[in-house]
Amino acid sequence: MYLTREEERIYDGEYGWAYQVSMRVLAKLGDLYGAERLIPIDSAHIAGVAYRTIGDAPIEFLKVLADSGGKATIQATTNPSSLDLGNPSFTFLPKEFVERQMEIIGLYKRMGLEITLTCTPYYIREPRSGAHLSWAESSAVIYANSLLNAWTNREGGPSALASALIGKTPDYGLHRSENRRASVLVKVGTDLRSESDYGALGIYLGEILGEKIPVIYGLSRREEHYLKQLGAAMATSGMTQMFYFGGKEREEPNIEEKISVDERTLKRSYERLTSTSEKPNLIFIGCPHCSPEELGIIARRLKGKRIRPGVKLWVCTSGYARRVAEEHVKIIEASGGQVICDTCAVVTWLRDLGVEAIMTNSAKTAHYTPLINGVKAVLAPLEDCVREACQE
Ligand code: F3S
Repeated sequence: MYLTREEERIYDGEYGWAYQVSMRVLAKLGDLYGAERLIPIDSAHIAGVAYRTIGDAPIEFLKVLADSGGKATIQATTNPSSLDLGNPSFTFLPKEFVERQMEIIGLYKRMGLEITLTCTPYYIREPRSGAHLSWAESSAVIYANSLLNAWTNREGGPSALASALIGKTPDYGLHRSENRRASVLVKVGTDLRSESDYGALGIYLGEILGEKIPVIYGLSRREEHYLKQLGAAMATSGMTQMFYFGGKEREEPNIEEKISVDERTLKRSYERLTSTSEKPNLIFIGCPHCSPEELGIIARRLKGKRIRPGVKLWVCTSGYARRVAEEHVKIIEASGGQVICDTCAVVTWLRDLGVEAIMTNSAKTAHYTPLINGVKAVLAPLEDCVREACQE
């Protein structure tokens, strides 16, 4: 890969170890994927924040990076951690977990990253159309490419961090227009009515698409939060990083591969995402983190209701959304629900918090919690989740 004179100096260590190792990571990636050069990016989004999922191994590396003066040179945001320190439920976790988590956050802060602790950085600051980004967090990557026309590959934590320090990314994959074309036509022949229907479809498609980009026709509803669920789920069960969508099917003469989805496909996907018939003791909404508008939808459903004893309702979101949707937050909390920031059910210690089974409207969560947390799940639309959480 071609490096400019300045990039070569960084590569040779003239600006210190943190920048040198970052440049070497990017150059290696570029060589592996056949990039010809590095291109400037508008922002980076860093995953690898939650202590529950990354463990102790990367902490030493982050320490050396910070000690050798590594600082973000562009806007860089951070994915959720394993804790909401503002919420009393999390104070029961072992002190050691809390200290290690705070150490990781402190290291990112020293490196100049914004401690946003959310998987939906696009609600805080929406990238401009056509912007090149270096984002880790698969749900945010597919959202940025498909709904915002921002251009990003699905980065890992280390490469996104390297890009945050250098301000550039190798020019390959979805940074190039020739790689952003759809190659599969998906025809949805059943009415998708809820965000969990969109998620169930996404899990099915992710499994069969591999890295291919689909154009999906027949989506009866195209609200932003429905499409967010579709993308997050596709990127969970597969490597798809982008999709196109429409209502009525159009001719796509250049696409030969076609997939049809019917009611039975969706039903099977729900069955696979429902791993228990036990009564859930946690109802979890907010994967990916809720937008201020979604907090409004939930608040309207909960107004005047009470959460049943023995059940918790968690609504996960960013600190930003919590602040701007304060009125909705008050209604949710008045019902006995908890609006939780900076973490989510998947990346925290669910079992240590006493959770045995969950019900969620997120197919991504229903897919992950049995695997990652050892907690079984039921996938259901938001209205069923609210009904289950509330007293009659
Ligand atoms: Fe976000 Fe946690 Fe889901 S990080 S995408 S809410 S698994």
